[in-house]
Parts: sequence; C-alpha cells; structure tokens
Amino acid sequence: MESIEHYLRRKRHYQDETVAKIYEMKRFGGLFGWMRHMRDITAIRRAIRFANSLGTQISFVLDVPCGTGRIFQLLSQKGIKFIGADISHAMLLEAMGKPKSHLEGLVGLVVSDAEWLPFKDGTFDAVMCIRFMFHVPREIQLRILKEMRRVTNRWGIVEFRHRYTLRYLSNWIRYKLGLLGELKYRFSKHDLEELVSEAGFKVRAIFPTRPYAPFLSDKWIVLLEKV
Ligand SMILES: C[S@@+](CC[C@H](N)C(=O)[O-])C[C@H]1O[C@@H](n2cnc3c(N)ncnc32)[C@H](O)[C@@H]1O
Repeated sequence: MESIEHYLRRKRHYQDETVAKIYEMKRFGGLFGWMRHMRDITAIRRAIRFANSLGTQISFVLDVPCGTGRIFQLLSQKGIKFIGADISHAMLLEAMGKPKSHLEGLVGLVVSDAEWLPFKDGTFDAVMCIRFMFHVPREIQLRILKEMRRVTNRWGIVEFRHRYTLRYLSNWIRYKLGLLGELKYRFSKHDLEELVSEAGFKVRAIFPTRPYAPFLSDKWIVLLEKV
C-alpha cells in the first residue's frame, strides 16, 4: 500500500496549475488514452445501471475527487445532478472549462478534502471515487470510505486496483527472485472486502474495466452498498 509521504506528495502535486492543465491530455490523450478513458466510463455506466436496477434511482451524486471532471459528461447524459469536489482548485478550474453539455447536471464545485466532506449525512444517492484510492495508504482509505458512507444514502462507486493480472504475477515472480526491488500493493478480493466492511459497506458488484480480458487490467469499478 502507498506510504503517507506518497499520498501527501500526490495531494500537493495536483495543486499545480500546469499539472492540472495537462492532466487529461497526458493520461487520456490520443487513441489509447481515449480508449482508457472510455473503459472507465463504460464500467462506471454499468455500475450505475446495475445500482438503478436494484431499486433506488441514482439522481444525485458526489464525484470526489472529481479532478478535471472526466465523468461529468456521463453523469449529465444520464440526467444525474452532481457535485464535484476536489482538494485542488486548479483541477476544479479545468473542470469548469468543460463544454456546456458536460456541465448540464452540475450543481456545484467544492474545494474540499475527501477525508472531511462538508456535506450532511445521507445527502447523495451515490458517491463516486475514481482513480484515487491507489494513491492512498490504508488508514486514509478507511477514513475516506467512512466519510463516503456518511454522506451517501446507499451507494459508493469506487475504483480499486487488484492483483489478478498477468503483470502482477510476473512482477511477483521477479520480486520473489530478487529481480524487482518493490512489489506495488494491489488488492486481493478478501482484503478489499475486509477494508470496505470496516467502513460499513459491502461489495455489491465488481465491474472490471476490461471485462473481456480481465487479466490485462488491474482496475475494478466496485459498487459498494451501505450496510
Ligand atoms: C488522478 S486524479 C483523479 C481525478 C478524477 N477522479 C479522474 O478520474 O480523472 C486525483 C485527484 O485527487 C485529488 N486529491 C488528492 N488528494 C485529495 C484529497 N485528500 N481530497 C480530495 N481530493 C484529493 C487531486 O487534486 C486530483 O484531482
């Protein structure tokens, strides 16, 4: 799991205006970047659809950290109202510059720390947390999940990185042979269930971002339900 120092560095990293400006282009620019982005969006869409099929329509969402508002278009297209929260003012400024059609459902943008969310209990139908947890040490993940649980009525939609990939297997072998200095932590299903249950959630469904080749991607979009 990442160290507290790494997390604090990442917290500062995205406050930089230049970092915020190039964030989307660097990770999601070009054909492969766009495909990466669309895989996230497709898995999130499936999670929302599945949650809706279980009774409560998701109509009000907190996206934290929302970054540059990468999933705003999806939320607006689905007629969902949403608030975007992020610790970085620079990232929120980028989000404000999204095309009007992406911002149709936007209720507000809030500079805030995911560890202490400035919302009342049960404000949202769902809280989303995408591309963030892998920067965060376990004790802070737990704190953030507890905050998410507090402000949601029922659902959490969270991206976690798992270990059931060919890359993890090859890194694990190299690590055991002493050919790799550090093996990056990735969740097992058991560890993930343990973490979310400590926060008062249960895993309701898992949506791999590459459902047809799950061993090639370590990203899971996980639908959590309040216990
Ligand atoms: C990799 S970006 C992900 C943004 C967005 N969810 C996405 O999928 O594109 C990580 C974001 O986390 C934000 N961040 C880092 N620490 C935070 C914290 N403690 N509370 C709220 N936002 C935080 C950063 O400012 C940055 O915008």
